Amino acid sequence: MNKLVKGTILTTLLCLGLSACGGQEEVKAPTKQPIKQPAEAQAQAQAIEINTEELLTSLRNHTTLVPIGDVPIPEDNPMKPEVLELGQILFFDPRLSGNNEVSCQTCHDPEMGYGDNKPTFDTYTGGSGVRNSPTVINSGYYATNFWDGRAASLEEQALGPIQNPNEMNQPLDDLIQELSAVKGYQERFQAAFNDGITEQNIAKALAAFQRQIVVKDTPYDRFLDGDMKALTKQEISGLRLFTGKAFCVTCHNGPNLSDNNFYNIGLNSEDKGRQEVTGQAGDLGRIRTSGLYGITHTAPYMRDGSLATLEEVIDYYDRGGDDHPNKSFFMKKFMSPIGLTDQEKQDLLAFLKTLGGKPPVFKKPELP
Ligand code: HEC
Ligand code: HEC
Repeated sequence: MNKLVKGTILTTLLCLGLSACGGQEEVKAPTKQPIKQPAEAQAQAQAIEINTEELLTSLRNHTTLVPIGDVPIPEDNPMKPEVLELGQILFFDPRLSGNNEVSCQTCHDPEMGYGDNKPTFDTYTGGSGVRNSPTVINSGYYATNFWDGRAASLEEQALGPIQNPNEMNQPLDDLIQELSAVKGYQERFQAAFNDGITEQNIAKALAAFQRQIVVKDTPYDRFLDGDMKALTKQEISGLRLFTGKAFCVTCHNGPNLSDNNFYNIGLNSEDKGRQEVTGQAGDLGRIRTSGLYGITHTAPYMRDGSLATLEEVIDYYDRGGDDHPNKSFFMKKFMSPIGLTDQEKQDLLAFLKTLGGKPPVFKKPELP
């Protein structure tokens, strides 16, 4: 019994995406494994101390590796040129903050991979923020936004930082008054939306603008599309490690290389993560799986910015992460340690670098 469950996990992990099992380099759909009834699976899982909930979610949700494709656009916020221009202006306008000094750019700078290249952000009053400013590159692909997934969309996310006393510290009523006093904004909101300057329209414009900040069509995507020359031998070796021995694909899968689930990868941190959103004990320290597109531009890494380079990230996973009472069972069972050779680490790094791409660099427009 135990062997069966373990075997299923292993085959599923190892055969995801690239055929790491057959020794072939061709791309093929993952082997579909029969999923056990929860009760039966639970009994078996208890016997080998694995987290059934995490396992079943992963088995049910696992998708093959696919080229990323276009960013999803919500029906009620089409990418109209007037909306995109307005969003770009708002993104760079420090008047969105209480002291008129902080804009979205302050923490999401196009020249810094749309992050701030600091471990954690500087707060409104000059202190040290609790979390890392994540990049906004490909943030439109996620099922939820923020490290802990507390916003359901970019529209929902956008009003958060404006009001947050640690970030831009501007009540929305005040902001609407302030923008309404600017003729250029009145005209631009009217042209973009029919109902002028509202909270929803500010959010929509910012969200639509950010949906253009995308890295896609990387050599990895071209490879998945069938161009076998798009990756070098070393990068292919890295991809095979990613989908095989190094277990990365367990969580980094699907179009944006995030399964949109939440895991605790063992970082030594007080951050309650997903638990703050759900109140569930099991969610302690869990964070949404990061997408990996644009990754070469967005150091330092992780929600506490504790890993300075991709080399450090690989070393971190290789040793099975640090200790946290709620560390993912995947990491405890299969990655502690992984045991990558120096060559394998370099190959994995070479593969991750193929995902870097060239994010479009939007410039600060003239403000109305
Ligand atoms: C003072 C720094 C700061 C400012 C200013 C700021 N942000 Fe952020 N941003 C952050 C931090 C920190 C997070 C992560 C917070 C969390 O997960 O709890 C974040 C998260 C995000 C995310 C989520 C990305 C993801 O991976 O889901 C988006 C999108 C975003 N910000 C856009 C914006 C926009 C738009 C503005 C301007 C209206 C803005 N930010 C202003 C620091 C900042
Ligand atoms: C158990 C699920 C899981 C596995 C396995 C996993 N990751 Fe992650 N990964 C995550 C989560 C969750 C985060 C965000 C963690 C945080 O910030 O606390 C993350 C973050 C990252 C980041 C940083 C992203 C950023 O913007 O800061 C990189 C790079 C990364 N993973 C690469 C890898 C590689 C390479 C592997 C294989 C060696 C791997 N991951 C295996 C879940 C996983």
